[in-house]
Amino acid sequence: MAFDNRDRLLARLEALEAQAAAGGGTERIAKRHEDGKLTARERVDILLDPGSFLEMDAFVTHQCDDFGMDTQVVPGDGVITGFGRIGGRAVCVYAQDFTVLGGSLGVAHAGKICKVQDMALKVGIPIIGLNDSGGARIQEGVVALSGYAEIFLRNTLASGVIPQISAILGPCAGGAVYSPGITDFVLMAERGSHMFITGPDVIRTVTHEEVTKEALGGAALHARTSGVAHFVTPDEQGVLALIRELMTYLPQNNVSEPPVLPTQDPPDRADPALDEIVPTESSCPYDIREIISRVVDDGRYLEVHQFHAENIVCAFARLTGRTIGIVANQPAVLAGCLDIDASVKAARFVRFCDAFGIPLVTLVDTPGFLPGTDQESGGIIRHGAKLVYAYAEATVPKLTVICRKAYGGAYIVMSSRHMRGDFNLAYPTAEIAVMGSEGAVNILDRRAIDASSDPGAERKDRIDAYRERFANPYQAAEWGFVDAVIRPRDTRRYLASALATMGDKRDSNPPKKHGNIPL
Ligand code: HXC
Repeated sequence: MAFDNRDRLLARLEALEAQAAAGGGTERIAKRHEDGKLTARERVDILLDPGSFLEMDAFVTHQCDDFGMDTQVVPGDGVITGFGRIGGRAVCVYAQDFTVLGGSLGVAHAGKICKVQDMALKVGIPIIGLNDSGGARIQEGVVALSGYAEIFLRNTLASGVIPQISAILGPCAGGAVYSPGITDFVLMAERGSHMFITGPDVIRTVTHEEVTKEALGGAALHARTSGVAHFVTPDEQGVLALIRELMTYLPQNNVSEPPVLPTQDPPDRADPALDEIVPTESSCPYDIREIISRVVDDGRYLEVHQFHAENIVCAFARLTGRTIGIVANQPAVLAGCLDIDASVKAARFVRFCDAFGIPLVTLVDTPGFLPGTDQESGGIIRHGAKLVYAYAEATVPKLTVICRKAYGGAYIVMSSRHMRGDFNLAYPTAEIAVMGSEGAVNILDRRAIDASSDPGAERKDRIDAYRERFANPYQAAEWGFVDAVIRPRDTRRYLASALATMGDKRDSNPPKKHGNIPL
C-alpha cells in the first residue's frame, strides 16, 4: 500500500516535470525552433556550465481565473529560475518562456524572479536574466504591476552590490525592458531581440504610427543610437557566449575580486611599435584601440557599448592577469571629442568599475567637450558633469596616460591628478593646455595679428610660440601634475608596475546617504 502511494506520488512528480518542461506546448516550441529561436531551457543549458543548473519553483502556478486564465495554467508560470555555474563560479539565473502566455509577467512569475534576486543578493553572486516577455500580464491587472515593482526594487537595491546582467532574447516590452534598463549590462542579438516600452500593435492603436519592431527597438537601434544595449551579437547563442566571456572580467560582488587569469605576457614587455602610433601631426586621426591592444595582456579586451558613442572606448581587459576598466578617447571618431553620449557612456562605465573595485586605466587624446548649439541644447553641461562626477567620486586605482591632446575641461575630467588620479603619465607627444593653439591665438592675439603688416606670418609665429610653450607635457611635469613622461613603448611596463603597487589602494568619500549625480 505504502509502495503504491510512493509510485503514485512519483508518477505525479514525473507528470508535473513533463508539464513544466513542455512550457507552452510542443506546437509553440516547434514554431520557435522554426524561427531559429531557442527555448528558455535550452538557453539556460547553453549559458551555464554543463549539468550545473538547479531549478527552483518549477511547479509554481498563477492563481488568476479572470479572462479564461484558469484554463491556462502551466507549472513554472512561464519563467525558469534557479542557480548554476559559469566558469565554475556560482550565478543565479532566470529565463522567461515566451511560449507560456508570451512570457508575460504575473505575480507568481514575478515572485519566482524575486526569489532568485533575493538569493543572489544574500549570497553575493551575479544574477543573469534571460528576458523574453510581453511585459505585465494583462489579465492580472494591477497584481501583475505589483510584481514588476518588486523586481525593480530588488534591481535597485542590488545595484552596485552584485553584477546584474540582462539578455534580451525576444520581443521584450513594458516592464520587461525597465528591469534590464536598471541592470549593469544589456545584451541583444541582431536577430530576434527587441526592446520597447510597448510594441507596434499598441502604437498603431494609440498614435496610428506604423513602425516595425526593428525600427522601434531592434538591436541596431539600441546598440548604436539609444545606448540601451551594451553588447550586440548576431544571434542568441552569441549573446549567451558573450555573457560567459563578460563574467570572466567581473567579481562575484562588490567585496570580492574578479578572477585573476594567469598570463605568459611579460609585465615589462616593451613594444617599439607603440612609439609610432600617435601621429606627430596633432589633428591626424588614429585608432586608440591599437594602443589598447598592444598594452593589455595578450592583446585581448572586451568593448562595452562598442557601437554607441564611438568617440570614446570603454573596455574590460587584463593587466598582469587582473581585470582593468579602460576608458580611452578615440581620435578616429569626432577627433575624440567628448559629447553628450560619450560622457554618459563613460560615466556609467567608470561608476560600474568603481562600484566593483575594478581599477581604471584612462588613455587621453581629446580636444575637449564638443561645442555647438546641438550639444548645448541637449544638455552637454549636465551630461558632461556626469563624467566629471564619476571620475571625481571613483576611489579605485586610477592610472592615466595622456597620449596627445588633453585640453581644457577634458584634461581635468579624464582622470587627471586633480581628480585623485593615482599615477599620471604622459607621452612626449602630449599637449596639455587650456585649449588648442589656433583657438588660443585667436583669443589672445587677435588685435596684434590684425595690426601686423603680415597677419598670416604673425599668426603663424604666435601659433608656433604657443605650441612651443604648451603643446607638450613639460609644463604639467614641472608642476608634478604628470608623474612621468614616458616613451610609448614602455606603457605596459609602467602601468603593470603601477597596478602592482597601487592595485589594492583604499580611498574613501565623505559619509553621506548618497551623492546627487547630475542625472
Ligand atoms: C498577456 C500576452 C502579453 C501580455 C503577449 N501576450 N503579451 N499575454 N499579457 N502583456 C500573449 C499574446 O496574447 C499571445 O498569446 C502570445 O503572448 C504571443 O504574443 P503575440 O502578440 O502573438 O506575439 P508577437 O506578435 O511576437 O508580439 C509580441 C509583443 C506583443 C510585441 C510582445 O504581444 C505585444 O505588443 N504585447 C503587449 C506589450 C505591452 O504593451 N506590454 C506592456 C504591458 S504594461 P497566444 O495565446 O495567442 O499565443 C507593463 C507595465 C510595466 O509591462 C510598467 C513599467 C514601468
